[in-house]
Amino acid sequence: MPNVAFVSPKGGSGKTTAALLLALGLAEQGLRVALIDSDPNKPLLQWAALPGKPDGITVHAAPTIPDIRDALREARRHEPQWTIVDTEGSVRGAMVFAALRFDLVVTPLTGSQLDVAEAIKAAQLAEAFGRRGGKPLLFRCLVTRVPAALRPRSLRTVVEQLRRHEIGILPTAIIEKEAFRDLFAHGGGLASLEARGVYGVAAAHHNTRAYVGDVVSALESA
Ligand SMILES: Nc1ncnc2c1ncn2[C@@H]1O[C@H](COP(=O)(O)OP(=O)(O)O)[C@@H](O)[C@H]1O
Ligand SMILES: [Mg+2]
Repeated sequence: MPNVAFVSPKGGSGKTTAALLLALGLAEQGLRVALIDSDPNKPLLQWAALPGKPDGITVHAAPTIPDIRDALREARRHEPQWTIVDTEGSVRGAMVFAALRFDLVVTPLTGSQLDVAEAIKAAQLAEAFGRRGGKPLLFRCLVTRVPAALRPRSLRTVVEQLRRHEIGILPTAIIEKEAFRDLFAHGGGLASLEARGVYGVAAAHHNTRAYVGDVVSALESA
């Protein structure tokens, strides 16, 4: 039962979106997924309150890090096959892996230079706490919010810097898509987007599947 956390010391890097897309991609494969919303603003609980939430996904509130254990206990009643924890974009949120053991920690970052420094910080925290637990903690960066037109070149320096620090990166970048924002505005999953006639759903779907495949591969590689 994989247990994945989305962590970054910085807000707005795309954690909540990436957490939801992972849950949606897994649910689409018929898997039961528990989403633990550990952001005090409760973005995932708000999403779940909108129409169209796939049945395989349950969302549980954990306003503070100590609440995560209770949320996990509550989630277990639904016998999830995956657990995904979304955290607050702050150093406090990033301390989640001091509290719990994860199979994979993902830090999303946009292509900006400021994000790289934050992602390196998150990787170092994960490494420090992972070591403490004995076995190293699996950590991957995820490049997100990439303008579809601007992919390879401007990202190269970001990717090179992460590599220089020996930080693993999920190969698929998540594209900046209106469709992904629409999920939070109107609820549901990728099928709901299609029904609403949102622009670019096929590309969003393709992008999500590739990303979910990367997460699965990263876990299998460990
Ligand atoms: N791939 C994406 N395409 C379009 N908008 C995105 C994407 N990822 C994030 N956003 C938007 O950027 C903002 C921050 O994203 P969010 O996932 O909430 O980040 P975090 O959880 O790290 O604060 C939100 O308004 C969200 O809708
Ligand atoms: Mg968030």
